[in-house]
Amino acid sequence: MKKEKQTEFILDAKKMPRHIAIIMDGNGRWAKKRLLPRTMGHRAGMAALRKTVETCSNMGIPVLTVFAFSTENWKRPFEEVDYLMKLLIEFLNKEIAELHQENVRIRLLGNYELLPAECQVEIKRALELTGNNTGMVFNIAVNYGARSEIIRGVRNVAEKLLDHDISLDDINEQLFSSYLYTAGLPDPDLLIRTAGEKRISNFLLWQIAYSELWVTDTLWPDFDRHHLIEAIYEYQQRNRKFGGLS
Ligand code: FPP
Repeated sequence: MKKEKQTEFILDAKKMPRHIAIIMDGNGRWAKKRLLPRTMGHRAGMAALRKTVETCSNMGIPVLTVFAFSTENWKRPFEEVDYLMKLLIEFLNKEIAELHQENVRIRLLGNYELLPAECQVEIKRALELTGNNTGMVFNIAVNYGARSEIIRGVRNVAEKLLDHDISLDDINEQLFSSYLYTAGLPDPDLLIRTAGEKRISNFLLWQIAYSELWVTDTLWPDFDRHHLIEAIYEYQQRNRKFGGLS
């Protein structure tokens, strides 16, 4: 058996990201390589997600956000969409008690009122059960698209303005951020994308203005704590300037 060379990355505890966002891509390719149906790739992706949540929570990462289903994913064949919805139900159903024990607080980004009724029931249960937890915030983006999130924010701000609850001078970046699904949370410091594609795919467009991007060719189901540590290590080597000088 080929032995993998494992490099040791020593992390700086003082420079940990406060928020990690992940575009979990490559489930389909992972399945195809094994001559399995795409759904099996998503199932393996769910297992990788569960481990990643645990690793991040154990590391003390304050916020983790994952892209589980985009507003554009409805274009996929019905069977695949249906399977993804069932996986979400299974994930919440199976893992909720343990996540609650780990003090993880679940939040949903996206319009989940358009999901199947059974999904909504599980989501509401998870939000209620973990709502007062004080550990890691775990954002699951489902039926999420950044452009529609921004339009929703604009409409809500406009409504407040028309109702004279706010004035034009009140509208600034901080106020607008509070109208997004991620209200009250720090912006992602690190955005990870698996499976090699170098694009953002309508994910957190407002929030990632100054995020550090890290792309790996590793397919999502193969992503593990070593990849996560490597991503955080590389993030820690970056010189973040936020438009200023170093
Ligand atoms: C992208 O892979 C992945 C998705 C569209 C879904 C992500 C879902 C999971 C990781 C598992 C389920 C998690 C929950 C919470 C239900 P792709 O299908 O686009 O892969 P490909 O580009 O290789 O075809």
